[in-house]
Amino acid sequence: MKAALCTTLDGYESLTLCDVATPTPSDTQVLIRVKASALNFADSLIVKGKYQVKPPLPFSPGLECAGIVEAVGKNVTTCQAGDRVMAILNYGGFAQYALADAHDVFPIPDNLDFNTAASLPVAYGTSHHGLTAKAQLKAGETLVVHGAAGGVGLTAVEVGKRLGATVIATAGGPEKLAICKEHGADHLIDYRDGNVRDKIKALTDGLGSHVAYDPVGGDLFTETLRSTRQDGRILVVGFASGDIPQIPANIMMVKNITCIGYHWGAYRTLDPDSLRASFAELMSWIEDGSLQPHVSLTFGLDDVKQGFEALLARKSTGKIVIEIP
Ligand SMILES: NC(=O)c1ccc[n+]([C@@H]2O[C@H](COP(=O)([O-])OP(=O)(O)OC[C@H]3O[C@@H](n4cnc5c(N)ncnc54)[C@H](OP(=O)(O)O)[C@@H]3O)[C@@H](O)[C@H]2O)c1
Repeated sequence: MKAALCTTLDGYESLTLCDVATPTPSDTQVLIRVKASALNFADSLIVKGKYQVKPPLPFSPGLECAGIVEAVGKNVTTCQAGDRVMAILNYGGFAQYALADAHDVFPIPDNLDFNTAASLPVAYGTSHHGLTAKAQLKAGETLVVHGAAGGVGLTAVEVGKRLGATVIATAGGPEKLAICKEHGADHLIDYRDGNVRDKIKALTDGLGSHVAYDPVGGDLFTETLRSTRQDGRILVVGFASGDIPQIPANIMMVKNITCIGYHWGAYRTLDPDSLRASFAELMSWIEDGSLQPHVSLTFGLDDVKQGFEALLARKSTGKIVIEIP
C-alpha cells in the first residue's frame, strides 16, 4: 500500500510517499481501507517526536480517518467487512490502509461523505466531551472560544451553541470571524486588535465569561484569566501559539477560578464509556442537522506536506482533509 512515511523525527518536511506492506489486524483490531484522513495540529508534533504518542519509526501520521472495513480481528463483533466507518487512530491515517482498535471505530451516518466523516472524531470529540464532562457547560452560561475558526475551535462554537450557551468567538481576522458567525457564534472578537479582556468584559456586563475554551495559550491565556468571572472555569485544550502559559495561582485563588487540564485522547483508556456516550450524542446532533462540520481544504496523499504547510501557516478554517486514492 502507499503511505506517507515518517522515517526521521525531522518534521513534516521529511515525510515521503512509500510502498509498504499492508498491516494485518490483531484479534481486537479493524483494518480500514482509508478514503479520507483529517490533519490535526498534533500531527505536526508527532512527526517531530514532540507529541504524547511516540510511535516507533518508520510510521505514518494521521490520527483519524474514514473508509471501508477491509477485515476484522477474530474477536471483533461491532463491525464487519464492507461497513462504512470512521475511526480514531493511534497514528497511521495517511496511508491506504490503517489499523484501529475496534472500540475506536464508529459507523458513518448515511448523510455523511468520507471527507466530512474523517474530520469529525478528534475535533468534535474534544469539544463535546471537554465542554460537557469536564467544563460542565450549562445552558444560559457564556462560553469564550479562542482560536474559534480552527479545527477544535469551530466545533467548540457549535457544541457550545447546541448546549445553550452564549458563545463569544475570538480569532485572527475578519474572514475567520465570519466563519465563526456562520457556525453560530453570538459575538466576535478579533484578537489581532488587542484588548481581548476588555472586550469580553464589555460583552458580559463587566463580569467575564463562565467558561473559556483555550486551544491557543500564550499571551491570550493571561487575557482569559482576567476575563473569566468569579467561580468560572477555563478548559486548557492546547497551545497552537507554541507558547505554554504559566498559571498564576494567586489569580486562580482570588477569583475562585478552576483551570481544567484536558487531553481528550487519554479518555480512550481512562473512561472509554464516557467517550462513547459523548460520541453517540454527537452523532445524533449530526443526524438531526444541529452541527455543520466544516472542511476548508483538501489535499491528495502525495500533497500531504502542502496540507501541513497550510495548517501551520493558519490558512485553514475548520479542518483539512487528506483524500486517499
Ligand atoms: N486537549 C486535547 O485533547 C486536544 C485535542 C485536539 C487538539 N488539541 C490542541 O488544540 C490546538 C489546536 O488544534 P487544531 O487542530 O484545532 O489546530 P488548528 O486547526 O491549526 O487551529 C488552531 C488555531 O489557533 C490559532 N492560532 C493562534 N496562534 C497560532 C499560531 N501561532 N500558530 C497556529 N495557529 C495559531 C489559529 O487561528 P487564528 O489564525 O485565527 O489565530 C488556528 O485557527 C493544538 O495545540 C492541538 O494540539 C488538543
